[in-house]
Amino acid sequence: QELQLNLEQIEKGGYDHFMLKEIYEQPSAILDTFRGRLLSNEAVIKLAGVEDNMKKFLAADRIIVVACGTSWHAGLVAEYIFEDLARIPVEVEYASEFRYRNPVITEKDIVIAISQSGETADTLAAIKLAKSKGAFVFGVCNVVGSSIARESDAGAYTHAGPEIGVASTKAFTTQITVLTLMALRLARAKGTMSSSEFRHHLIELETIPGKVEEALQSDAYVKTVADIYKDSKNCLYLGRGFNFPVALEGALKLKEISYIHAEGYPAAEMKHGPIALIDEQMPIIVIATKKGHYEKVVSNIQEIKSRKGRIIGIVTKGDVSVKELADHVIEVPETIECLTPLLTTIPLQLLSYHIAVMLNKNVDQPRNLAKSVTVE
Ligand code: AGP
Repeated sequence: QELQLNLEQIEKGGYDHFMLKEIYEQPSAILDTFRGRLLSNEAVIKLAGVEDNMKKFLAADRIIVVACGTSWHAGLVAEYIFEDLARIPVEVEYASEFRYRNPVITEKDIVIAISQSGETADTLAAIKLAKSKGAFVFGVCNVVGSSIARESDAGAYTHAGPEIGVASTKAFTTQITVLTLMALRLARAKGTMSSSEFRHHLIELETIPGKVEEALQSDAYVKTVADIYKDSKNCLYLGRGFNFPVALEGALKLKEISYIHAEGYPAAEMKHGPIALIDEQMPIIVIATKKGHYEKVVSNIQEIKSRKGRIIGIVTKGDVSVKELADHVIEVPETIECLTPLLTTIPLQLLSYHIAVMLNKNVDQPRNLAKSVTVE
């Protein structure tokens, strides 16, 4: 028993939980994922799975992403990035819905299957359906030789290392890293991005591991915020643009490890119903980085404030406007808009983690959950 405990302690690298260890591994996991693939001084991205199938990618009518849970959220970020940078239409499908709704699939479709475990039954079934209709399937998995990796026609692995915590963290940020590399490579091949813009994105992407490191330094402050809101019964997460999927992911993290009900919403959707929920009891986490629709998010925050909502803002370092309005602000370093999800997700992972620990939940193995849903 004693030996077992010590072994586990060694495996956790001194962290109290695998989830916290994996949150802190993200700088190196992201670096390992783009190492050898992102060559900024030569302004080159090397992804064999994409290079070998470039004709297919360039001729594709659209990209269909199939995934579940956090991987589906990574797919949603990919939709925004692929369409914005490479101008390729993208649809993101819950694998469990896609496989049963008799979808229209043609040989000109490219299906990207995203799966940390590579064993999720619905995602595996979705790609088998797509292949039966002649689509080309590209897998983004974290487990080498997993069923989905083997079933895919080509792919690119995330190099996150084993993810033990049931709540996915480093898999999410490394999935986004791979998908961003793909979108940049295709944008360059399609000529939808100038070489200087391309180089700028590569150089900025290289700074992300350091910026994630910096975002992790808000941990102690996030813990104080967690202590204030740990007894909430409901939470609302709001984001716009590239950070709308991050709002969904932040809500999922809180739900699955603290069992507090949480919902992610596009910030502008507040007016279409959820604003009725706002009262002093429900904290609202608003991702309001200084990019994209910043002014609009600030006005969304004002709307919430006037209804006595309590606001936790995820802001760009040095932000002033949101600081005046929100009850708490957690800062992340500045980066280009499409890369903000890699940073804004960090405080949301930490917030969920600390709340769950304070509520004495089983953080690494939450009730009712499995690390990989290998059955329907
Ligand atoms: C994420 O925190 C969850 N544990 C879960 O939603 C997970 O992302 C989903 O089951 C998909 O798993 P996969 O990436 O291994 O396919």
